[in-house]
Amino acid sequence: MRVLGIETSCDETSAAVLDGTGNDVSLRSLVILSQDVHAIFGGVVPEIASRAHLTAIVPVVERALSDAGVDMVDAVAVTNAPGLVGALLVGVSFAKAFAFARGIPVIGVHHMEGHLFATALEHPGAVPPFTALLVSGGHTLLLDVESWGRYRLLGRTRDDAAGEAFDKVAKLLGLPYPGGPHVERLATASDAGAFRFPRPMLRRNQLPADPDFYDVSFSGLKTAVLNAVKTSDLERDRGAIARAFQDSLIETLVEKTVRAVREHGRERVVLGGGVACNATLVRAMRARLGTRGVDVFAPSARLATDNAAMIARAGLFHLERGERAALDLNAFAAQPIPGLVAA
Ligand code: KG4
Ligand code: ZN
Repeated sequence: MRVLGIETSCDETSAAVLDGTGNDVSLRSLVILSQDVHAIFGGVVPEIASRAHLTAIVPVVERALSDAGVDMVDAVAVTNAPGLVGALLVGVSFAKAFAFARGIPVIGVHHMEGHLFATALEHPGAVPPFTALLVSGGHTLLLDVESWGRYRLLGRTRDDAAGEAFDKVAKLLGLPYPGGPHVERLATASDAGAFRFPRPMLRRNQLPADPDFYDVSFSGLKTAVLNAVKTSDLERDRGAIARAFQDSLIETLVEKTVRAVREHGRERVVLGGGVACNATLVRAMRARLGTRGVDVFAPSARLATDNAAMIARAGLFHLERGERAALDLNAFAAQPIPGLVAA
């Protein structure tokens, strides 16, 4: 089956074409147009994002089809939740019109389920069963994935998402938006010196039934960074603060992932979402889990951040199960991942 994927949930207009059956897929094309305009405002402005998607969607899809060397696809998969509703509506409306005009099926895809499938596009071993850590600008989810379509939610953030924490700390340090790569670069080149921030929700000797055994929280860490910024010489300490922040966040994420791997006896860990671009996080995960014989799979930066290839891939899975959306397919700001079962 050949699927056109479309992603417009935030500030990337993206389209991709992939061919495949089951886990045997090949990506024919991927076009990602990033809306740089938001950097001026220090964050994504929803109204501007929607309008930018509207002008970009047609050329981006045409380019994805021509890069793939095809005119026809068998189905369209589009992100319909979660995200900025106005932005999602552009992709959803386009996908429905495209599918209707060609008499082909359309399917709505949950953005986070897309991130879950992204790594498998590059690493054939990144298939269930595995422990998944999805760390993006809007979400932080720790999942046990028994099979595609069966996801057990183990932990999530109580407040800020991991990427959001990176972006807010970048702002406090006077770095550009989106802040993750800037904080990582600075942290990698620095020593934490005298700075050490709390490791939230990392009490020892906890039991899996404890409510914060898997959950994370980054708002206290952000406040600790704010206090450090206020009481230090930022020109001198910027790098050390970035390093101490990143050390704390990474240690927390690694420890929670190790707990999930141990409790569920998984031999693979799959990372996804923009924060999975962080090489220090991936290295720390491999250092802790490699000794247990656990493989850690991380996507390349292009597939870790928002892209339509992962949406096409997740869409293929649902289409092969015979699922189809009706032409009243809608967009939603928030929605649980389909197939999510309680822990
Ligand atoms: O998955 P994504 O592209 O968009 C959402 O679905 O939110 O993730 C974007 C997030 C931003 O918060 C960005 O700062 C973060 O990923 N990010 C990073 C790095 N690269 C991107 N965070 C830490 N280190 C990085 N190298
Ligand atoms: Zn995302």
